[in-house]
Amino acid sequence: MPAHRLLSRRLVIIGAAVVIAVLGACAVLAAQWAGLIGAPTTAAAAAAHTAAQQDNKHWAHGDNTLGVLGATFGLRIGTAVNTDALAKDAAYRQVLGTQFSTVTPENAMKWGIVEPKQGVYDWAPADKLVAFAQAHHQLVRGHNLVWFQELPEWLNKQYRSISPDALRSILHKHITDEVSHFKGKIWQWDVVNEAFADDGTLRDDMFLDKLGPGYIADALRWAHEADPTAQLFYNDYNIEFSGAKSDAVYDFVKKLQKQGVPIDGVGFQGHFGTQFQLPDLQTNLERFARLGLNVAVTEVDVRTSMPVLAFEQSAQNAAYSQSLQACIAVRACISYTMWGFDDRYSWIPDSFPGQGSADIYDRNLHPKPQYDVLKQDLQLAADGAPVRTERGVR
Ligand code: G3I
Repeated sequence: MPAHRLLSRRLVIIGAAVVIAVLGACAVLAAQWAGLIGAPTTAAAAAAHTAAQQDNKHWAHGDNTLGVLGATFGLRIGTAVNTDALAKDAAYRQVLGTQFSTVTPENAMKWGIVEPKQGVYDWAPADKLVAFAQAHHQLVRGHNLVWFQELPEWLNKQYRSISPDALRSILHKHITDEVSHFKGKIWQWDVVNEAFADDGTLRDDMFLDKLGPGYIADALRWAHEADPTAQLFYNDYNIEFSGAKSDAVYDFVKKLQKQGVPIDGVGFQGHFGTQFQLPDLQTNLERFARLGLNVAVTEVDVRTSMPVLAFEQSAQNAAYSQSLQACIAVRACISYTMWGFDDRYSWIPDSFPGQGSADIYDRNLHPKPQYDVLKQDLQLAADGAPVRTERGVR
């Protein structure tokens, strides 16, 4: 064939291919715009979107509160709840019921609170919070079952004399009774809280001392037996940062999975301060998520010295924003919870004299710049953030 005819045939073929490609792309775009095939993602992503909308149907409309904005891509936005404030403060209840789609009792489910005398339970404040949550379509994070702090006095008194067998059966009973009491009403349980020291060793507390490291696996198994539908979490602080503690928890959790221990997620607390550097939280969330676990940011607040200076305000905004964005970026991150929402009831001034203003509302329940920053991040995330569901990746 003469060269000029060969060339023109090639041009025709190339031209046809270009036309087909352009028409194809136009068809895809037209279908997307018409809402026929959704975004150019997989069928699984589309199904996740539908499931997220179903999970969040009570939160996916109404005013642009934090809970509503998170619901557009399935992220639950939460707060710890002070049950005294819940009982006596109507303005507190109003913000709580409208801004947040998940709640955590700040203290009301801790062992020392629910079982002040051995065998005598007081569930009333926690029950009231669970009822409030149900009435407001909020999911509940149970906090917590095993922790070296806020233990009942009657148990602390027995530390020296109690035998391993006796402690084991007391712990078993506590977990079984508490998880059974709330069975079917708890979304995520912080089963074991703060079991590691900052150097990556297991914390030298009563449980390790008497029961050995196996108490963590036992606690998870007992919680699972009592409520197989609750998601079971290990929760800790300073694992937001890469380092010895985060590595140790990572290795430990991986070992638990290999042993078939029921663990669904890891909680990253997030008690930040303007005097500290920001963590590489997203990196850590991602590596735990790669184990097939859900992750959650569970206790965010950002304290600073009082009175707050302009640069400290900016640093607080940055810490809130960066931690929320880290969670938004990771599909397995199913909730972002703050450790209280208003400065009036914050635990910070009692524990860190001279510091405060750690929350997103002031003492008069006016939203602070931190609130606006979170809201803006959630608004931006509605366009393209990975969509998640209540079950997360489990
Ligand atoms: O129950 C008494 C009450 O009768 C008394 O009137 C009052 C007077 O101060 O004290 C009350 O107990 C305090 C309780 O909070 C309720 O206010 C305890 O002394 C106090 O130690 C306790 O502090 C809590 C702390 O955990 C220990 O349980 C904080 O509110 C709570 O924010 C904090 O939360 C922990 C998380 O559970 C785990 N991660 C860290 C986080 C901050 O420490």
